[in-house]
Amino acid sequence: MKNIYFIGFMGVGKSTISYRVSRILKKKIIDTDRELEKRQGKAIHEIFTEKGELYFRKLESELLREISQQTDLIISCGGGMILKEENRKLMKDSGIVVLLTATINTIYRRVALNDRRPLLKGKKTKAHLRAMYSKREPIYKELADIEVSINRKTVSMISEEVITKVKEIENHV
Ligand code: S3P
Repeated sequence: MKNIYFIGFMGVGKSTISYRVSRILKKKIIDTDRELEKRQGKAIHEIFTEKGELYFRKLESELLREISQQTDLIISCGGGMILKEENRKLMKDSGIVVLLTATINTIYRRVALNDRRPLLKGKKTKAHLRAMYSKREPIYKELADIEVSINRKTVSMISEEVITKVKEIENHV
């Protein structure tokens, strides 16, 4: 079976939904940020401050290259994983790509909950989120096989919607 990759902007709930989907489908999950933290023995924001974003992007791509060789995984990707063409190709070639979307208001509310995101440090404004989101949105949409909005839905509803759409794709190939 192909891998299922969750992509989308910070704060749309990729980790939560992918964990729930992995439990329902009884598949192994890899959350790329958590896996990098485990391997580096550091939090993502520490990797950013100590080694910089480029170094983080390199680690992230190396990890994707490694895990995309495996099959039948649920993979929750950091929000910026889609920025590199080589990463997009790896995902496209080895799995079904699920995009989670939300409105800027929802994202703003959700990212306000913690201070762990280095790219939002000192810049947690709607204007900054909107600017980043509009740059990335075409890339997310172009890559996605499935798109699910999280607005006004529970974790269960979103997970079921994802699973139904994944099964539709699997049954057509
Ligand atoms: C990033 C998103 C983060 C994390 C890093 C960079 C991004 O993951 O990988 O801070 O560039 O959008 P989440 O999307 O899980 O917040």
